[in-house]
Parts: sequence; structure tokens; C-alpha cells
Amino acid sequence: MKTHLNVKAPSNILSGLFEEKKWISSKFLYDEQGSQLFEQITDLPEYYQTRTEARILLENLSTWKSVFHEPSALIELGSGSSKKTKILLDHVKNIESYIPIDISEEFLADTVTQLQTSYPEIHIQGVSADYTQPFTLPDLKGKKKVIFFPGSTIGNFEPGEAERFLGNIRSLLEPGDELILGVDRKKDETVIEAAYDDAAGVTAAFNKNLITRINREHEASIDVESFSHVALYNSSAGRIEMHLESVRDQVLSVGGHTIEVKKQERIHTENSYKYDPEDIIQLGRSSGFLLQRVVSDEREYFSVCLMEVV
Ligand code: TRP
Repeated sequence: MKTHLNVKAPSNILSGLFEEKKWISSKFLYDEQGSQLFEQITDLPEYYQTRTEARILLENLSTWKSVFHEPSALIELGSGSSKKTKILLDHVKNIESYIPIDISEEFLADTVTQLQTSYPEIHIQGVSADYTQPFTLPDLKGKKKVIFFPGSTIGNFEPGEAERFLGNIRSLLEPGDELILGVDRKKDETVIEAAYDDAAGVTAAFNKNLITRINREHEASIDVESFSHVALYNSSAGRIEMHLESVRDQVLSVGGHTIEVKKQERIHTENSYKYDPEDIIQLGRSSGFLLQRVVSDEREYFSVCLMEVV
């Protein structure tokens, strides 16, 4: 089984730096160092998303139990440390196979080894892949498939890409299969901006790790501190934007090229779109899913959506 996607996919970390409006694809954020920094972000006091989503999962176990009413395969997109998945694995029977898919190979291998020790009865098979590109699922022997896409990662796609992406995920599924999708909701911008610009500077380090990665992979020596981390909520687009802003005029020497960067010029590194339930209904309509159920925290900061294949 393969998905086919049409995501704006640069061939390498540098390609967007030669464009009029400079940008770096956010998927380059997740090398080993970046994945570790992201794990730290999920523990930050300002980053409410991870703990809110975990609480929603834990407080709605009967919903997940009814999703897994028959022997099933749980397929997670962007599994990281699989922390939230453990809530499902600990409390829900009938998960016979767990397929974590992650772009960071080393990180995935460690996670699979640890999980297999903790859950010897579950068949765990990691797939190291960029899930925005065509990927193959192992043979799941006709078991019900449940796709788990938590962490509001859907928000890191452009809206049109999100539709195409879910449409392609839909093509891996059959009627009766389901999708559990975590989304961060629209809300007061000070809450959102703090979540992407924490006081301890971990998110700044995560963003600047892109520069470290360019230095390492392209034998460059860009001063990491010549860029500052900027996070701005764009309420009309319903998204928080992350940038690296140059603190001075500079010329970057990378991969045999020179790139001029002006003082205060920004390199766009990430968007995180926020979705309310009406946005999810719309997204489902255009990608072949029907929103069945939305469970949220009391403040309605975050929602976990259960979607069925149509
Ligand atoms: N999916 C996460 C989100 O949009 C990714 C993320 C969190 C992120 N903090 C970040 C991406 C900071 C770039 C920079 O919330």
C-alpha cells in the first residue's frame, strides 16, 4: 500500500534559501538533536498541547475502547517517543499490532526496543519513513486499521496539503477503519505565542538547530546566534508562524554558494495551523472522513477527533 502526496517538498535543507522569501522545510527540524529538543518542548509549562492531549486521551478511555472493539492495528504517524500511545496500549485491549512511523531512524529504533520490552504481547513494527512521502505499510492481515495522528501535527501542513495528506491516508484504509486526530484549537493569541516562545528558550534552540544542521551537513560555519527565534500568531490565517530572524546583515557560505541575508530578514521555518471542530468537519469532507466525535479539555484548548472512513 502506498500513499502519494503532493506536499511542497524541497530536495534539501538549503533549497528554500535561494528563493525570494527564504524558508526551510519544517521536516528538517527533526534530526536526532531536534527530536530530543522537541521532547523537551512537550514538557514545558507554556506548551499546553502535549499534556492537554494526554489528559483528553486518559479521560475518554471508553471512546477508545469502542474504537478497538475488535483485533486491530494501531498505526501512528510521527511517533516520537510514543508517550501518548502508551495511554492507549496500557488501557485498551485488542491492539494486536502497533506500527510507529517516524522520520528519525535512531529515535524510532530506540523507541521500538523499549516498547517491545514493555509490551511483549503486542507485535511492534517500526517504519522509518517521511510519512508525507509515499510509504508502505506492512501486511496487517485484514485487521482493522486505526491511524493515530496526535500532537496537532496536521497543523504543520498548509490547509490544502492537509486535505491531500488525509486523502492519501484515506486511500490506505477501508470502510470500518478509523482515524484519531489531535488538533490544537484557535484561542487567545498570548496563550499560543507563549507556547511557541517559551521563557527557557527551548523552542528557540529547536528552531536554531536548523542552522546547526546546515553547518554540520553542508560544512558551513554560520553563527547560530546571528539568528533569533520569532513566533507570531497570524489570526486571519489561524496559524502561528515560526521564523529565524537575522540580527545583522550577513553573507552565508553554504554548499559552494553564497546567500545574502539582510538584518531583520526572516527565514520562515514553520507554521502551526489551529483547527476548531467546524474546520475539522470541512477537512474531513474534502479528504473522505466523517467526523464522528470530538473530545476536548474544559478550556477547549485542544481536541481529539474521531473520524470514520466514508
Ligand atoms: N506539531 C507541533 C506544533 O505545531 C510542532 C512544534 C511545536 C513546533 N513547537 C514548535 C515546530 C516550535 C516548530 C517550532 O505545535
